[in-house]
Amino acid sequence: MPKILAVIVLIGMTVMGGWFIVSAWGGGPVKQPVAYNHKAHIDAGMECAACHTGAEEGTHAGIPLTEKCALCHKPGRPYPKTPDDLAFFLKAGKEIPWTQLHRTRRHVYFSHQRHVTLAGIDCAKCHGDVKKKTTPFDRAAFPARQAGMNLCVDCHRKEKVTTDCLACHR
Ligand code: HEC
Ligand code: HEC
Ligand code: HEC
Ligand code: HEC
Ligand code: HEC
Repeated sequence: MPKILAVIVLIGMTVMGGWFIVSAWGGGPVKQPVAYNHKAHIDAGMECAACHTGAEEGTHAGIPLTEKCALCHKPGRPYPKTPDDLAFFLKAGKEIPWTQLHRTRRHVYFSHQRHVTLAGIDCAKCHGDVKKKTTPFDRAAFPARQAGMNLCVDCHRKEKVTTDCLACHR
């Protein structure tokens, strides 16, 4: 009897442990509607800001609209090839319902322009090596969610930028 109890407790702990890891990432992995590939576009010579139009000059970097994809991808044309999942949205004239994964909490203020243009910080510092990514982002990839506030505060301390609570929480 005690043996069975121990097994039940062990299973319970495993399940709970898994739940805590997942919840610390802010939910389970996400499957994006199109198997987007960053590397293919960077290798073709595109800049980040060509699609994320606010990344240098705005607060929000933004996710591109389907009309941006349609500039190059025409279903039926051999190059660049247009996979079926992308062709579906282009033919239907529908927006691709991407799930935006990089999002701070509502009480936090963050400006891309301030960090990218004024401070000259590379995207990779906060988002990892996107240039080499061949699959879409899933939830687990967001460093600021895993590190929480420390990602911001550690760098601010190092760079002698304000760590006043109200600079970020407004
Ligand atoms: C400036 C032109 C251009 C734009 C704009 C563009 N693409 Fe592409 N795309 C390419 C090129 C070039 C390739 C790689 C060549 C090939 O595989 O035929 C590619 C490849 C792809 C692939 C296939 C990658 C693979 O793994 O084989 C997908 C999926 C894709 N693009 C999605 C998108 C989406 C979604 C958008 C809009 C957000 C977009 N593209 C915007 C040029 C573009
Ligand atoms: C100092 C850290 C940092 C740097 C550098 C940075 N980002 Fe971000 N990025 C964030 C944070 C934090 C968020 C979430 C923002 C929010 O919730 O408003 C975010 C969100 C995003 C998003 C999601 C869409 C959106 O509008 O918020 C995209 C796309 C993005 N960043 C692209 C980029 C690109 C491209 C670069 C480089 C040109 C870049 N980021 C540089 C921290 C950074
Ligand atoms: C051809 C358009 C295009 C280019 C160029 C591009 N991206 Fe993206 N990016 C996308 C699309 C579409 C998504 C949504 C699908 C995904 O997660 O991969 C995305 C997603 C992202 C996200 C996650 C957004 C979120 O919160 O879900 C980040 C961060 C990001 N890109 C950074 C970059 C960086 C850094 C570069 C340059 C090295 C870059 N992107 C170049 C189209 C592009
Ligand atoms: C890699 C270093 C780095 C990271 C990571 C970083 N920052 Fe910053 N941040 C800076 C620098 C440098 C400046 C000063 C930019 C300037 O104005 O010249 C700054 C400025 C700011 C400001 C303006 C401060 C003021 O004086 O009003 C805010 C707000 C801010 N950051 C919020 C954030 C948040 C929120 C995060 C995390 C999501 C973050 N930062 C992550 C380096 C960083
Ligand atoms: C450089 C920016 C920055 C500064 C300075 C900062 N914070 Fe934060 N804080 C953040 C970010 C970003 C998050 C959200 C992290 C996440 O996504 O889970 C956060 C989260 C929090 C949370 C958790 C709230 C929640 O929703 O879970 C508390 C509490 C908090 N901060 C308090 C403070 C206090 C108190 C100070 C001053 C001593 C401070 N912060 C200074 C950026 C900052």
